This record gives sequence, structure tokens and C-alpha cells, in this order.
Amino acid sequence: MISHPYQIKSMQQYQTDYKQSIEFPDAFWENIASHFVWKKKWDQVCDWNFSEPKIEWFKGAKLNITENCIDRHLDTLANKPAIIWEPNNPEEASRTITYGELHRQVSAVAQMLTNIGVNKGDRVCIYMGMVPELAFAVLGCARIGAIHSVIFGGFSAQSIADRLEDAQASFIITCDGAFRGVKDIPLKSVIDDALIENKTVKKVLVLNRTRIPISMIKERDVWWEDEIAVAEKQLQAQEKFNFPAAEMDAEDPLFILYTSGSTGKPKGVVHTQAGYMVWANYTFINVFQYQPGQIHFCTADIGWITGHSYILYGPLSAGGTTLMFEGIPTWPDAGRFWDIVQKYRVNILYTAPTAIRSLMAFGLKPLEGKNLDSLQVLGSVGEPINEEAWQWFYKYVGKERCSIVDTWWQTETGGIMISNLAGITPQKPAHATLPLPGVLPVLVDEQGNELQGNSISGNLCIKQAWPAAIRTTYADHERCRTNYFATYANRYFTGDGALRDELGNYRITGRVDDVLNVSGHRIGTAEVENAINMHSGVVESAVVGYPHDVKGQGIYAYVIMEDHGHDAQLMRQNIIQTVVRIIGPIAKPDKIQFVKGLPKTRSGKIMRRILRKIAEGETEQLGDTTTLLDPSVVDDIKMGAKLI
Ligand code: PRX
Repeated sequence: MISHPYQIKSMQQYQTDYKQSIEFPDAFWENIASHFVWKKKWDQVCDWNFSEPKIEWFKGAKLNITENCIDRHLDTLANKPAIIWEPNNPEEASRTITYGELHRQVSAVAQMLTNIGVNKGDRVCIYMGMVPELAFAVLGCARIGAIHSVIFGGFSAQSIADRLEDAQASFIITCDGAFRGVKDIPLKSVIDDALIENKTVKKVLVLNRTRIPISMIKERDVWWEDEIAVAEKQLQAQEKFNFPAAEMDAEDPLFILYTSGSTGKPKGVVHTQAGYMVWANYTFINVFQYQPGQIHFCTADIGWITGHSYILYGPLSAGGTTLMFEGIPTWPDAGRFWDIVQKYRVNILYTAPTAIRSLMAFGLKPLEGKNLDSLQVLGSVGEPINEEAWQWFYKYVGKERCSIVDTWWQTETGGIMISNLAGITPQKPAHATLPLPGVLPVLVDEQGNELQGNSISGNLCIKQAWPAAIRTTYADHERCRTNYFATYANRYFTGDGALRDELGNYRITGRVDDVLNVSGHRIGTAEVENAINMHSGVVESAVVGYPHDVKGQGIYAYVIMEDHGHDAQLMRQNIIQTVVRIIGPIAKPDKIQFVKGLPKTRSGKIMRRILRKIAEGETEQLGDTTTLLDPSVVDDIKMGAKLI
């Protein structure tokens, strides 16, 4: 069994480690990195400045992350489960992939990718359901040094087309379809639409999953099953069934993951090899206090950063057993998570507040008779967890004996940044609590002045480089600088607001920019507005968030139409359809209000503050409206809001 020599064992050790990590980061991370497998050790631990920004960790080192996630465990864990896969349909057989089998599968995928022409540095877009082959595909890319860019199944053809173009992707790995609850999502046909105007993609590899009819384009589209059979034969003919892991530079890109910001276009966040690996591993072992042999169930999709770091790279690099679930929490019924916990004796359950809230709505019946004794640690991620959801999770799922870790982090941070460590540092409902070693958070006011002391609130920034910090936004470094490092000099700005309580615990209050968090998914208001504005007859729109019982935030759109004589209900449905086509179902507006005008300042800026208040149901205390070009539009909007 792999041991974790850098697992923090007490509050006192947390304090000492934290202090050392901030005062002597090089010595601290050098020690942790020494527990990984390197093809060549680093010349310098860390070299960074936030002004360019330039962030480099383990400079000069050579490695392959898959050797750290797979090969190094083979001596001790070859017959132990690496991935347990639970299908969407509970009647279908589950699969257990041991470390030995994972090594064979990833080797075969690496050989297959090489056969179809994928080279080191090529961008490979992965658009698959949550099947084990998705994990093999991601790791297969990493094995040969191709840069994976996984796209969540809820994005539309247009969104995929934009991402393919931005990443200049040359290969796609997809499935015919994906099962999610009662749905069968036609992934390949979405890819076909995304490729209509594409000029960079050379090959599309298609895995059979749902067996819906699909079209296969000659020369461009190839079946996974056929190609993998060829690759396996080639490897079998060798002395050892192994595809040699490519030697990667510590700072070579590992993956691109697109995420929304305040502008209309998603950004390709780039993470590199070594720093990301060390951070995913270190945070996994410490936050969840992972013990050898435990079953870790992260309910996220691998299309999001949570899936990258805490279904794949974190648990596998720690020699852990990770559970991958294809379905949804409410199908065949709202007891599905509990059935899975019982079936596999899950020890760690890591999920999102939105999932907890949606399950709370079903009451306690789905929990009845389910044996959840194996659970030891519960985790929350993606959005602020409200106190009611926290208590429900603690009481009814954790039976008041499990720790809850409230983990704050972002796609850009690569791994968990602020969280209690299960059973080691104190938990506090609805608080992410304390920073992990290596993380130096600060709160600043609008002018960027650092706010000292406790019991204060401000904008959350990070002051020191950590190993998995965003390196760049793909093919546009300036965008990375302006988005994250230019608002406040020498600080990484998170876009979140936070409170620091009297003991120094952080509570993340939510985004302070024009980004919504809908069911834990990040959606830029500008992106939704762009999509709405593409609908025929729409003159202008403004999108804001409003509190939503299950989703955390809902999407509220104010829309001006050219012609007012339309059937409002039908027009709403049509606009929603356009948003689904342009972005995907995850960005569907929950409410659409048709308005004659939007509250604008004399310089033409929309006063979103007023729109947010009205969307929240507040019609009296709207603050100062005297600077508006036409204050009367506000009365119209208030009247209209009552009818929504
Ligand atoms: O607003 C914060 C919220 O999710 C945002 C990051 O979204 P994304 O990059 O999609 O990554 C989600 C999974 C890491 C943050 O800016 N957020 C994430 N975790 C928490 C949170 N808000 C409050 N509490 C959290 N634990």
C-alpha cells in the first residue's frame, strides 16, 4: 500500500506546515515533490511573477503524470481497484478496473492515438459520457503528451465549434451517445454539427455506448473498437504490454479546460504537468485525509475541473480507488447516491450543494433503509453551501459523525485552495475555513488596498504562486493577464467576494463579477446575452442572477424585442431554444421578462445593480436611480416583473 508521508495529522502540524510553506515555499514543495517519480529532477523549484504573469514550478524537471498515476503503483497495487465504474442503469453490470488493467488500457489508448496520428503537443478534444473509456482517453493523451481538452456533454455544437477553433484541435474522441437518466444524448451528432465549418480536425474516434444510429464520415471518423483492437495486437506482440510514457517538461501543457468569464467568450485555462500533479495529489490526500484502500466517490463530471482533479489525477496519483458514476442523482429514483454508497461501501462522498438541495427536496424517504455506515468524509464544492443544506448533509447523510469539507477553488486554481482538512482542522457550517499550505489569500477593497485583521469582507485575491496556478489562457496570454492579474497589482484576483471571521476562517460569498454560478456551473452573463441577442427580433438583453432554491442562482433575462405584438410565451420558448443551440442546455434562462427599455446611465452602461434587485423581488429599495438616462424604464420593469 502506498503511504502518504506528507499527510497532515494534527492542527498543530497544519500550522507548522502552513507557516513553512509560506516562508520557505521552495524547501516545502521540494520535499513533497521528492515523493513522486521523475525522469529528471528540477533545477529550480519555483520561479514566478504575477505581473507578466510567469509561473513555473519544478523548472527543468522531466516526468510523465501517468507514470505517477499508474506505473509507480504496479508493484503494490496491480490487483487493487483503481477505478470502479457504476453505469447509469443499475441493472447493467458495473466494472472494476485494477491498476494493472488501467495500465493496459491506457497503454492501448496511447498506442491507438499514436496510430491515428496524434503527436505530443496536439490538442485532443474529448466529448464523451462518463464511461471508463473517458478516463482511459484522458490518461492516454497524457501518456503520449497530447493536450486534452474535455468538453462537458451539456455544451452545444456551437460551443464545441468555438472551443475546437480556439484550441486548434486536430483530434476528437467521442461516443455515439451518452446515457443520463432516461435520456440518451446524441454526442456524435452534436460533434458532426460542430465540425461543419471546422478546418483543423483530422480524425474523430467514436466509441460505441448507446448504439443509436450515427453517421460515420469516410476517412475522418473511425471506431474506437476497431482501432483499439489493432493497438492491443501491436502491444501484445511486444515483450511487455506497455506504451512508454513520453518524457514531458514540467511546464509542458497537460490540459486545457474552457471556463466562462465576464466577457462573451470562454477562456481556455491551461494547466501544466508537474505543478498540477503535485497540487492535485497533495490537496486530495490532505483535504479528504485519504487512507489507503478507501473508496472515493466524486460525483462531478470529468468535463469539469473537479472531475479532472478529484476523479482522476488526485486519487490515482495517490494510489486510491476512485468511483466514476455515469448517471444522475435522481434516476431511477432520488436514492441513487445512497444505493451507490451502500453497494460499494463508499468512504468519501464529494458532491455539489445543488445536488444536496435537489435531494433534500425529496425528503428523507430515499435515505430510509440505506446503509451509509461506511461514509467517513463528506465534501462540498462548486458554490457556497447554505447552512440548511450543510446541516441536512451533516445530519442525514453523515449521521453527525462524518466531517464535511467545504472546498473552495476554481478551474484556474487546479485544486482545492481553502478548505478544512477532514477531522484535522475545525469545520464551520457554510465556511470554507482556512487556506491550504501554499495558499496565501488576502482580502482587498475596490481600490486594491489589503484589508488587515479579522471580521471583515472584501474581494478575494491570492498573493503567492501555488503549484497549480493557471499558467496562461490558451493562445492568448494577455487575456490571462488582464483577467486575473491586472485588476490588483501583484495579486491573482479570484472574482469572488469573501468574509474573514474573527478566527480567520473564510466564507466565500459568491462572484463579484458578471459571472453566474448556476447549479455549480460557471456561466458568464455576457455569453448568455450574446446568445439571446442572436435570436431574430431581439434588440438587446441584460442577464442577471437571482437566488434559486435548488440551483443556487437562476438566470433572469430582460429582453427588448423589435416588435411587441408577439406571443410572449412562444417567444420565451424560442429564445430558450436559441440559447440551447448557441451555448447548451446548461445556460437556459429560468425567467425571461420582455421590457421596453433597460436602465442605462447617460454613458450607456446598463445598471445591473437595479436589474439584480428587481430579479430578487426587491422593488422598493433600488438605490440611487437619478443618474439614469430615463428613470421611468425602471417603473415599467418593476410592473412587468410582477407578472413573471
Ligand atoms: O464562485 C466560486 C465557486 O465556483 C467558482 C469556480 O467555478 P469553477 O471554476 O467552475 O470551479 C468549480 C469547482 C472548483 C468560484 O469562483 N465556488 C467553488 N467552490 C466554492 C465556491 N463558492 C463557495 N464555496 C465553495 N466551496
